[in-house]
Amino acid sequence: MDKAFILRQLDTALATCSSLTVLEHIKADFLGKKGCVTELLKQLRALPLDERPLAGQKINELKQVVLERMDSARNALEQMLVADALQRDTIDVSLPGRSVESGSHHPVSLATAKMVAFFTAAGFMVMQGPEIEDDYHNFTALNVPEHHPARAMHDTFYVDSPFDVNLLLRTHTSSVQIRALETQTVPLRVITPGRVYRCDSDLTHTPMFHQLEGLVIDKTSTFADLKGLLLAFMENFFNKRCEIRLRPSYFPFTEPSAEVDVRCVLCDGAGCRVCKHTGWLEVLGCGMVHPSVLETAGIDTDAYSGFAFGLGIDRFAMLAYQIPDLRMMFDNDIRFLRQFS
Ligand code: PHE
Repeated sequence: MDKAFILRQLDTALATCSSLTVLEHIKADFLGKKGCVTELLKQLRALPLDERPLAGQKINELKQVVLERMDSARNALEQMLVADALQRDTIDVSLPGRSVESGSHHPVSLATAKMVAFFTAAGFMVMQGPEIEDDYHNFTALNVPEHHPARAMHDTFYVDSPFDVNLLLRTHTSSVQIRALETQTVPLRVITPGRVYRCDSDLTHTPMFHQLEGLVIDKTSTFADLKGLLLAFMENFFNKRCEIRLRPSYFPFTEPSAEVDVRCVLCDGAGCRVCKHTGWLEVLGCGMVHPSVLETAGIDTDAYSGFAFGLGIDRFAMLAYQIPDLRMMFDNDIRFLRQFS
């Protein structure tokens, strides 16, 4: 191996060297115990005695050059590494700070909170119950015995039951009113907000939605109280004067029963797409609690009477916030949800 060849090898190795570890390997390849320069020194012994000093001197000069080039390569490499580190750790103090995004309440939560605030101010307690309910609390105790055609009013999701009772996803929160009657004493004022389930899905129906039902049992509760309470509730919820009308209807657990319409809150009754040009919105079911429901709960129907009502929170939220499609509520689209912050 001649000197020029070794130096060319060295320059190529140093040119591509990007770390101090690699540099150490290069050093070993040239000057280490088995390095090529060291090998040259070993070969000196094979030369005649008189040629050795000159040859040795040349190899030492070569070794010096190798060392110098390694040194300057090391310096250059160290400088580059420092510059890289500085670059990486630089803080741009002129950048704007990272903002902390705050969340927002879901429209259903906003509507629920507003309703709960109204009713608790009116002396109602709030009760919750299981979403997987038994037949008895969802139907039977509400005057809907097995095989009663009224069961078909609700498209029920049934659940496989490990017990000897039928289990289902509650179709309304009236089931919680039965639980209230079982655990509370009369007089009683209770609201039961929560999720309910029906096998239904289109523009205005989702398989899961939210109801708020109310129940009042007292010695003096009348249909007029019910009507007055509902009107006050709607005016509070929609933040404006409202007009309501009651149409006779049927629910197995109330008698008489009524469907409540409110003068369309979007067009004030002039007729629009939302009220299907009738000027009225159907928003609520209600009635005087059926005596047989009270008797099942062991309440003296000579002394007490009661009224109940039930509404879809999602529908109220749709009207209040003018949401065109109920399904948007549960799509979890952040652009939709951000509008309520
Ligand atoms: N539970 C009824 C429903 O879900 C609503 C309702 C409640 C009607 C209370 C009358 C009284 O359709």
